[in-house]
Amino acid sequence: MQPAGSGHAPVHLQRFSVAFDYPVVFCRGAFDPAEPTLAWAISRREPERRHRVYVVVDSGVAQAWPDLAQRFGAYVERYQTMLEWVGPLDVIVGGEAAKNDMALVTELHGRFARERLDRQSTVLVIGGGAVLDAAGYAASITHRGLRVVRMPTTVLAQNDAGVGVKNGVNATGVKNFLGTFAPPFAVVNDLDLLSTLPTREARAGMAEAVKVALIRDARFFEWLESNAEPLAQCEPAALEVLIRRCAQLHLEHIASSGDPFETGSARPLDYGHWSAHKLEVLTGHELRHGEAVAIGMALDARYAERKGLLKPANLERVCRVLETIGLRTEHPALCQTASGRPAVLEGLQEFREHLGGNLTIPLLTDIGRFVEVTEVDEPTMIDSIRWLVERKTSSCSSTA
Ligand SMILES: NC(=O)c1ccc[n+]([C@@H]2O[C@H](COP(=O)([O-])OP(=O)(O)OC[C@H]3O[C@@H](n4cnc5c(N)ncnc54)[C@H](O)[C@@H]3O)[C@@H](O)[C@H]2O)c1
Ligand SMILES: [Zn+2]
Repeated sequence: MQPAGSGHAPVHLQRFSVAFDYPVVFCRGAFDPAEPTLAWAISRREPERRHRVYVVVDSGVAQAWPDLAQRFGAYVERYQTMLEWVGPLDVIVGGEAAKNDMALVTELHGRFARERLDRQSTVLVIGGGAVLDAAGYAASITHRGLRVVRMPTTVLAQNDAGVGVKNGVNATGVKNFLGTFAPPFAVVNDLDLLSTLPTREARAGMAEAVKVALIRDARFFEWLESNAEPLAQCEPAALEVLIRRCAQLHLEHIASSGDPFETGSARPLDYGHWSAHKLEVLTGHELRHGEAVAIGMALDARYAERKGLLKPANLERVCRVLETIGLRTEHPALCQTASGRPAVLEGLQEFREHLGGNLTIPLLTDIGRFVEVTEVDEPTMIDSIRWLVERKTSSCSSTA
């Protein structure tokens, strides 16, 4: 084989493929010694040997579950032929602060080294999406990849962030600027852990379910519409249906999209995310990721409606379901300006750079259907921003 147009330089095309698999298990009471799921998830590939496990925990979880170390200790004792707990319970700051501090990644490396973790060791990460992202990133670049078993503890982490193949931290003022694609070894979704999650965090996680329903599953969207009120109250039965279906749709997308490591420019499940990531940064992360996604979806729905792609009635449905769940569809940060234009628009360029290649934005054409566009008409987007803000508040015009 030779490069096109060249008469020389033979090329050997190196090609191989690697299959990935990881179980995503839903359970309750994962630390109950009578529940073998977690021990199985850690030891499933080599059940005959003892597995060294280092545990990283989100500070919000550690606070809400003060007996966690004791419970995990008792669990390890019950499964001592399979598990060995190494190191202390490593509590790291919860929330976006975990991703905003590169020093934390370095500190984790020091602790992994001190415990002499190797590629056959397991890092068990218990926490929200931010802690999973930061600790997962630290583990993925240690010895080129330690095994990570995730125990997501928020709605968003159980239905989206924790079940996928990505991790990362924020750097240079850009969301997820550093990160790797690193499928986990296993994911254990313990629904009981959600009982201590603040309502605000739980609702934020529901935004990702609305997103995946809008892009992939009209029937799921209708279910969300019918259950928006119990969901706003975090009613456990409704929450469980939402999380399971949302996780399943994300998993199906990763397995069947043909691009699990996102080498192309298209990312339909990042619907509403170009502005969401920017809004998170503009608000100094006061807006939660899911909250920003809710605003981003409403914005892109209005834009699609103005472009004649989406019926006005469907735009109203998008806004109504989000608002009934208890999510805002606007925020004063939409009115912030930079160089005379809405600062949020910078999110378009940052989104393109993050994906590489051409700008590719999914826009709804119906509930459960979308098209990808490669250009955004700025005046119409600015109009859409104003519409969102004016729908809820008096005006954006004094600052925009
Ligand atoms: N890697 C991915 O594919 C992916 C996908 C989507 C989102 N994300 C990332 O996930 C992050 C958002 O994650 P999140 O929504 O899970 O929130 P989060 O991780 O920011 O956590 C929110 C808050 O809840 C606390 N908390 C977590 N679990 C708790 C519990 N059970 N009880 C009490 N408090 C608890 C945390 O300490 C924190 O204060 C963002 O950084 C986002 O970019 C990553
Ligand atoms: Zn998201």
